[in-house]
Amino acid sequence: MCGIFGIVTGKDEALGPLLVEAGKRLSYRGYDSVGCATLTSDGQVDLRKDVGRIEDVARRLAFHEMRGTRGIVQLRWATFGAPSQANAQPHLDSDGDLVGAHNGNVVNNVELREAFIGQGMVVRSTNDGETCVHAVERYVDQGFSMLDAIRHAYHDLAGDYAFVIGRVGENRLYAFKKGSGLVAGVTDGISVVSSDLPSLLPLTRRIVRVEDGEIVILEPGRIELRRVEDGRRIEREVEAITETMEEAQKGGFAHFMLKEIHEQPRRAGEMLHLYDASPHVAPLVERMKAARNLYLVGCGTSYHACLLGATYIARLAGRPAIPVLAPQFVPQYVPAVGRDDVGVFVSQSGETKDVLLALEAARGRGLEPLALINVIGSTLMRESRAYLPLACGYEISVPATKTFLNQALAFLYLALRMGGHSTAMLHTLPGLIEETIGAAEVAVAGLAESLARHDDLYCLGYGLTYPIALEGALKMKEVTYAHCEGMLSTEFKHGPLSAVTDGYPVIFVAGPEDVARIVSGVNEVTCRGGWAIAIGEEDPRLRANAHDLVVLPPAGPLFNPLLAVVPLQLLAYRLSVARGLDPDYPRNLSKTLTVD
Ligand code: M6R
Repeated sequence: MCGIFGIVTGKDEALGPLLVEAGKRLSYRGYDSVGCATLTSDGQVDLRKDVGRIEDVARRLAFHEMRGTRGIVQLRWATFGAPSQANAQPHLDSDGDLVGAHNGNVVNNVELREAFIGQGMVVRSTNDGETCVHAVERYVDQGFSMLDAIRHAYHDLAGDYAFVIGRVGENRLYAFKKGSGLVAGVTDGISVVSSDLPSLLPLTRRIVRVEDGEIVILEPGRIELRRVEDGRRIEREVEAITETMEEAQKGGFAHFMLKEIHEQPRRAGEMLHLYDASPHVAPLVERMKAARNLYLVGCGTSYHACLLGATYIARLAGRPAIPVLAPQFVPQYVPAVGRDDVGVFVSQSGETKDVLLALEAARGRGLEPLALINVIGSTLMRESRAYLPLACGYEISVPATKTFLNQALAFLYLALRMGGHSTAMLHTLPGLIEETIGAAEVAVAGLAESLARHDDLYCLGYGLTYPIALEGALKMKEVTYAHCEGMLSTEFKHGPLSAVTDGYPVIFVAGPEDVARIVSGVNEVTCRGGWAIAIGEEDPRLRANAHDLVVLPPAGPLFNPLLAVVPLQLLAYRLSVARGLDPDYPRNLSKTLTVD
């Protein structure tokens, strides 16, 4: 997830070391390339950037030598457009008078870039940050002031992003945002702006949060807000911050896991925008459609997304897809795979050895490897023939949450496209996820208190909710250390039912199409004294038969699994905290499993 930081001071000074420190504070967001630009009072622009870790690039390109009255540092996390020196940010306009950098995604990048090239502008990369710079250049060239040029450019740039830009011959920086975060800060003689609060904190604790539709103008020791709409000044009190850096990184949440659960609506929306605008989706869909056998391969949570993906593909595209755990793929399917087969390898880290070994073995027999990845530049990205990003930004907590939701949503998107259906309805999902989080927070708080003393439980689902039951059980095991088994609800009576005694907890995830079947399972448990907790849409049958019902917004069978996972994530989180554990770093586990 990219990050930007900008600073304005009153006099030319060594800004390089300060920019490197600010960049390091942004690095927890994840990145693959880094760049710094400084502007001096006599009109010089110094721009240095490359692929790599900030410490290495800064040493190699001698960032410490960079001087000026204004400086920008950017850390890029590539989504589309390879990590490369040209695509690294900041970027210049055609004649080098403007320099700017962004984070986020400009979804009409391709169209704007072509238009700018057509107008004779010098376009040096395929990166959408450069498009932001040219979007301002277009109006500056027509004689508009910087403020008015930015106001016009704001309307031209679609997507979720934050952007900072400076011009030779001024002593200001300008910044604005749509969707993404942007915070400005001020102190004696300097002003600063960044995509997030932690990178500002060592410099100032006096900050102003910038909203969509606002432009912040930074001058030495002064910040001013203007409305995009009409350029009028906005008065806003400067806020005094008392949070520590670690608290600020967690954005006010007690743990990264909780923060990442709450990020899900925004991350889902960003990925959907990206896919709608991406030229890479259609060829991938065609390859999946044309496959003789289509395998969906992953481990842990990523495998659960494959399982749900296969059900979506069968239902919406009318063809089978085979979900399989990566290590089992090798003995069970690889001996039979061939050139006409396609595998979609799914991994948050892109470094899971089990997944990479499966890919290697299958590719050796001619299978075409495609991938869903979150970490750009990862081994899986490089080893696959084509990939789609999950656009979740850095996932810090060991339990995967937002990446699961976007993996499953990516499969739903692909399944709809494979079946020739519209994906427009998917844009209602971020709002539904938001609604689910709000309602589930309340419902789960009560349940967690009673469930915390149980060391043994089951989580059952059927059809589209079967993978959700497995995922919920994995989350529960991972962060509470309790034994929680996920399984098909109908299998419960074939053995595990013998575990049920008085008060024994069983969670049922009920899709709206399967309520009758789930209610049978509920009764098998309750008539033996067990405690049945249902998660589903409001339904009198669930209300009458289960002891507790966590209500999901009515959204239909396809969206239901993507909502049902949310209360399970929150329940696991609350139970972990209730047991005095740290959900972000469960014992014995690692975020990236590079061993077999
Ligand atoms: O990085 P990957 O998606 O390949 O990781 C696979 C599993 O190790 C991972 O999903 C694991 O199960 C999660 N920590 C579960 O929350």
